[in-house]
This record gives sequence, structure tokens and C-alpha cells, in this order.
Amino acid sequence: MCNNSKLFKVLSFWRKVKAKLKVFVSLIFFLLGEHMRLRNKVALVVGAGSSGPGIGNGRAISVLFAQEGAKVMCADINLLSAEETVRMIREKGGEAIAVQGDATKSEDAKRMVNATLESFGRLNILVNVVGIASGLGVLETSEEEWDRVITTNLKSVFLMSKHAVPAMIEAGGGVIINISSAAAFVAHPCLSYGTTKAAIVNMTRCMAIDLAKYNIRVNCIAPGFLDTPMVAPIMTDSRREFLKQVIPLGKIGTAWDTAYAALYFASDEASYVTGETLIVDGGLLAAGGRRRSEEKLV
Ligand SMILES: NC(=O)c1ccc[n+]([C@@H]2O[C@H](COP(=O)([O-])OP(=O)(O)OC[C@H]3O[C@@H](n4cnc5c(N)ncnc54)[C@H](O)[C@@H]3O)[C@@H](O)[C@H]2O)c1
Repeated sequence: MCNNSKLFKVLSFWRKVKAKLKVFVSLIFFLLGEHMRLRNKVALVVGAGSSGPGIGNGRAISVLFAQEGAKVMCADINLLSAEETVRMIREKGGEAIAVQGDATKSEDAKRMVNATLESFGRLNILVNVVGIASGLGVLETSEEEWDRVITTNLKSVFLMSKHAVPAMIEAGGGVIINISSAAAFVAHPCLSYGTTKAAIVNMTRCMAIDLAKYNIRVNCIAPGFLDTPMVAPIMTDSRREFLKQVIPLGKIGTAWDTAYAALYFASDEASYVTGETLIVDGGLLAAGGRRRSEEKLV
């Protein structure tokens, strides 16, 4: 009887010690940043600035990746804008450097990759955010406009990936994330923009099967309407109201919605996912243009 109570005391003491040890170890891991989803990763975000005041997709992705432990090279054609992103990251205790470069030029693409390797020693994640909008139809689109949009939105993805892949092979694998648009899946008169965004979806698949042998995953995000500086000039009050009617979730998204999708693709949680496009549009495409207030057909 006496032995049993002694044993019981020892066991309950051990259980208490074990519970405290568990808390202590979790705290140590937390302080070391072990909980961070991109710990020990180096990311190159191309188009990491914003085309106006506010948070564009590249800026949100850079800030979130740094928050999750990645070292981030913030690349943009606009150095001041990339530096603003770096400032935001450092303010929160993250690590980032800005580099200027035009992603449509091979020598710049190579230089941005090299700057990442020189600063951080490796490259694990490339995010191709660069993109410009054009709302013109076939008759209004000049040859120059066509070339400008195709080069900026498509050639940038090709060149950045081409120069980043050897570094990823060297690192034993990597992740490429391309930014398409919901405009890839519906026809509207933005000829060159819609064409490039649709092409990025299949470019993602082509690269995914090509690079799988190197343990490089390639995925894509297709955002719907987001409140970013790029769309600010066309976001009139009436358009905003219309969009709220046709987006099932009843709201316009933000760059953070893209960033969280990118975080999933970049993390090891997506280690069995490649060649995919994740639509982040509040249900816009699923609804096919039906107003939220419309009566049910059946
Ligand atoms: N905002 C939306 O609603 C929306 C919706 C769907 C898709 N997207 C896509 O998201 C991406 C980013 O959009 P955003 O709204 O954040 O735009 P943004 O204009 O704020 O960001 C784009 C960044 O790319 C940079 N850039 C442009 N050309 C470059 C080049 N040649 N080399 C290097 N950097 C260059 C710009 O300076 C800018 O900082 C684009 O590809 C866009 O098509 C946006």
C-alpha cells in the first residue's frame, strides 16, 4: 500500500516535470524561430515594390516571407519602392536587401540572382510578381503595346526562372511561384494582359514537369480583384460596388490574400504540390458573373 502511494507520487512528480520540460523546449524552439514556416530559406521576390503608395502583391509577399523567417532579396525596377519594402521588413525585425533590376533584361535577371547568392549564400524560392495591366482590345492595341505587355508579363517569368534554376539545382531543390490572374480564365477585352496571364498558367505546368527531376516545384497564383496600387486608378466607387455584388464573398481582396497563398506554396507543407494554379478571387470565377442578390435558378 505504502509502496503504491510512493510510486504514485513519483509518477505524478515526473508528469509535472515532463509537462514543464515540454513548455520549456517549445519556448526555446519559439525563440529560435523553429515555428517559422520559411526558416532557413532564401527568397528572391521580383516586383517586390509597389507601383504606388500602399501594399502591392510583391510587397506583401516579401513582408510575409520575412515574417516567416526567410531572408528576402527585394528586386524591382524601381529601387526606391523595393527599399520601402525592405524598410517595412526591417522594422518588424526581418532580414532583407533591395536590388534594382529590369526582369525583362537577361543581364539584369542574372545580376538579381547573383546579388541574392552573394548576399545570402543560396536561393530557395523565386517569386515572379512583375506584371503590368493593359485594358485595350485587339483594335486599340498597338504593336508597341503588345510587345511591352508580353515582354513585361511573360519574358520576365522566363528570364528570372532561367537564371534562378541553376542556383536552385545547386541548393538541392527549390520553389518557383508565378503570379497570373483570374483574367487567365475568363474572356474580356484586355487582349495582351489576358493573353499573358493565361500563358503563365501553362508556363507554370511546363516548368513544373521539366524541373521536377531537380526537386523544384513550380506553382501559380491567380488573384481576382485586389485593392493594390496597380488597380487603384480604375477602382471607382461604382466599380467597387459592382464587384461586391458579383464576388460571392462580398468584398475585394488585398495583396495579403495573394501573400498567404504564396506562403503555402513556398513552405514545405506544399512539398507534394507542383504545376498547380490556386485561384484567390473570393469566388468570382465560381459564380460566373452572377450577382449575389440574383434568385436561385433551381
Ligand atoms: N492587383 C490586382 O488586383 C491583381 C489581380 C490579379 C493579378 N495581379 C498581378 O499581380 C502582380 C502584381 O500586381 P500589383 O497589383 O501588386 O502591382 P504593382 O504594380 O503594385 O507591383 C508590380 C511591381 O513590379 C515592378 N515592375 C514592373 N515592371 C518591372 C520590371 N520589368 N522589372 C522589375 N520590376 C518591375 C513595379 O515597379 C512594381 O513595384 C502582377 O503580375 C499583376 O498582374 C494583380
